[in-house]
Amino acid sequence: ALEILKTISSVKQHLRTLKPQNKSIGLVPTMGALHQGHLELIRQSKKLTDITFVSIFVNPIQFNNPEDLQKYPRTLASDLEILAKEGVDMVFTPSESEMYPEAVMMEFDFGSMEQVLEGRFRPGHFNGVAIVVSKLFHILEPDISFFGQKDIQQVAVIQRMVNDLSYPIKIEVVPTMREADGLAMSSRNQRLSKDGRILAPILYKTLSKCKDELLRGEEWFNIKNKVIPEMLEPLKIKPEYLELVELGSFTSVNNLTPEKPYAICIAAHIEEVRLIDNIIIRTD
Ligand code: PAJ
Repeated sequence: ALEILKTISSVKQHLRTLKPQNKSIGLVPTMGALHQGHLELIRQSKKLTDITFVSIFVNPIQFNNPEDLQKYPRTLASDLEILAKEGVDMVFTPSESEMYPEAVMMEFDFGSMEQVLEGRFRPGHFNGVAIVVSKLFHILEPDISFFGQKDIQQVAVIQRMVNDLSYPIKIEVVPTMREADGLAMSSRNQRLSKDGRILAPILYKTLSKCKDELLRGEEWFNIKNKVIPEMLEPLKIKPEYLELVELGSFTSVNNLTPEKPYAICIAAHIEEVRLIDNIIIRTD
C-alpha cells in the first residue's frame, strides 16, 4: 500500500526498517500535477530498484516568477490516487515549513552552466532546484534518482552536483514523453487555453525541422534565421531562446562536429505559459 509521509522524521523512521533489508531505493522527485512523463520515471524506477519513493513538493525557491508559483497546478488528491494505482511504495509530501524551517543561506553556483538557456532566463532557478534536490537526497537516501530529459539542463546541473560533492547516488535520465501531436508533456500544459493547446505543438515541430536541416548539413545560423520568421512569428510566438548547444557544457555552436552529442533547446511563451522543450542530436 502507498505510504504517505509528510515529515522528515517519519521518513527516517521508515528508512530504519527498510535499510537493514538491503533493498535498493529509487527516488522520483516531482512537483505534482502528475502526468505520463512522471509515470514513465516511476516505471523506470520500479524496473531498476526494489522500492520506489516519489516526492511531491512545489518548491517555492526555484520559482523566479511569483505568478508562475501561484498558478502552478496543485492536484494532490488525484496525484495520490495515481501513485497508489502505480504501485509506488512511499510518497513524501512535506509542507513548506518542514522543508524550509528557516530561509536557506547556502547557495549553489554552477558557473557557466547558469549563464545560458534556463540559467540565463531564470536567475536563481538552478540554485533553488539544487537546494531542494540536495535536501531530498539527504532525507530519502536513494540509490538511484530519476530525472526527465525534458529538463535537460536540470539533469546536467544535478549530475554536476552529484559529481562535485560525491553523492552516492546514480542519476538515471528518462526520455521525454510527448502527446500524440508531439507536445512535450508538462504540468504547465494544463494552464493552456484551447487555442494555446492547438498552438503549442509548434515548438516540437520547430525543433524537428531544425534537426532535419542540421543533419542535412545546413549551418545553425541560417536555420535559426529561417525557422523563427517562417514557423514561429506568424503564430506570434517569440522564443526566449532557440539554441544549438553541445551537451555537457551547454555552450552554443553553429555546426555539428562528428561524434559529439548536441541538443537544440527552446523556451517560449504560449499565451502566458512558459514552455520548454529540446531534442538531442547524436552524430555518431
Ligand atoms: P516536475 O516539473 O514535476 O518534473 C519532475 C520530473 O519529471 C523531472 O525530472 C522532469 O524532467 C520529469 N518530466 C517532466 N515532464 C516530462 C516528460 N514529458 N517526459 C519525461 N520526463 C518528464 O522538475 C521538477 O519537477 C523540479 O524541478 C524538481 C526536480 C522536482 C525539483 O523541485
